[in-house]
Amino acid sequence: MATFKLLLLPGDGIGPEVTREVEKIVSWFGKRGIASFETERDLVGGAAYDAGKVAITDDAMKRAQAADAVLFGAVGGPKWADVPYEHRPEAGLLRLRKELGLFANLRPAICYPALAEASSLKREVVEGLDIVIVRELTGGVYFGEPKEIVTLENGQKRGVDTQLYTSGEIERIARVAFELARQRRNKVSSAEKNNVMKTGVLWKQVVTKVHRDEYPDVELEHVLADNCAMQLVRLPKQYDVIVCDNLFGDILSDVAAMLTGSLGMLPSASLGAEDRESGKRKALYEPVHGSAPDIAGKGLANPIAMIGSFAMALRYSFGLGEAADMLERAISDVLASGARTKDIAGPGTNAVGTGEMGDAIVKELERM
Ligand code: IPM
Ligand code: MN
Repeated sequence: MATFKLLLLPGDGIGPEVTREVEKIVSWFGKRGIASFETERDLVGGAAYDAGKVAITDDAMKRAQAADAVLFGAVGGPKWADVPYEHRPEAGLLRLRKELGLFANLRPAICYPALAEASSLKREVVEGLDIVIVRELTGGVYFGEPKEIVTLENGQKRGVDTQLYTSGEIERIARVAFELARQRRNKVSSAEKNNVMKTGVLWKQVVTKVHRDEYPDVELEHVLADNCAMQLVRLPKQYDVIVCDNLFGDILSDVAAMLTGSLGMLPSASLGAEDRESGKRKALYEPVHGSAPDIAGKGLANPIAMIGSFAMALRYSFGLGEAADMLERAISDVLASGARTKDIAGPGTNAVGTGEMGDAIVKELERM
C-alpha cells in the first residue's frame, strides 16, 4: 500500500474545526487500507504569528516542500488587523503558493441537486451546475512589483500594485485549462479585460495561440471578465472551464461559490508543474471559504469544502480517482439524506454541527 506524506495546516478561525473533520476522513481511508497517510501538522497565519511573529516559519515551509500534499484550512481574522503587512496571516498562504510554485488553482463549483434550494438564485438556473474555474495563482497583481505606498512631494500618498504576466505564465495555465476541458465538456472560456488592460491583450493573444497550436479540438471563447461575472449569475450552465488571472479568479470563484448554495461547499486544488523525473507535483488543497471569525469555535462551520478538498487530493496527488469518487458520492448522499449545516439549511430545517456533518460523511463511507 502506498504511503503519502500529508501536512496539515489548520490555520485560524474555522480552519482548525474543519481540519478536525477532514482528519476523520483521512484516518478512515487509512483504516480501510485504501492508502496510508503519514500526517504532520504545523502553524500558519495568525496562529503562526502568535507563536513566532511570522505568518509561516521556514521550518513549516520545508515540511510543505517535502509533503506529497498540504491540506490548508483558513487564515486571518480581526485579531491580526494591525500586525505588520509582511507578517499578516494571508502572507503565509501567499508564500506557500509562491515558493511551492502552485500556479494552477482549480476551483470546481458543483451544485448538488439537494442544494439547489440553498442558492440565492432560482433552482433552474443552478440545478446540475458543474463548472471549474482555473485561476492563475502565482502571478498578476498579487505578486507584481512595485507594490507599495509612497508619499508624493505634494504630501499625498500613492498606492501602487502592479499587474504583470509573461507569455510563459499564460501558456502554462492555458494548457491546464485545455487539458481539463478535454476530460469534461470540452469548452474553455478565457476571461480577461483586453479592452482596458495590456495584460488582457497579451492573455487573449497567448490563449488563442496555445489553442490553435495545441488544442484545436477544444471549443474556445473569449469573454470580458466583467461580463463573465454577469453571465455567471445570469446563465452559469453555459460554462465548462473558465480560465483567468489571479485577481479575476479570486472574484469569479466567490461568485461561482454562491451558485452552489454556500461558500462552505467549494473545495480547491493548487497545483505546481509536474516534475519531469518523478512525475510528482507540489500541491496544496484548501477550501475556498475564509476563516469566518464570526462563527469560529462554535461548531457551526460547514466542513464539506475542506472534505471535498481532500477528495481533490486523492484524485490529483495520490492517483486515487476511485477513492475520490467514493468520497464525493458520500458527500452527495449525505446531503441527499437531508443533513445540513447552518449555511445551507433552509428556513425551518434543523441544522447539524460541524462534527455531526463529518461523522455523517464517515458513516456514509462505511456503507460503501
Ligand atoms: C482565496 C483567498 C485568498 C486570495 C486570500 C486569503 C489571500 O481569498 O484563496 O480566494 O485572495 O487568494
Ligand atoms: Mn478569495
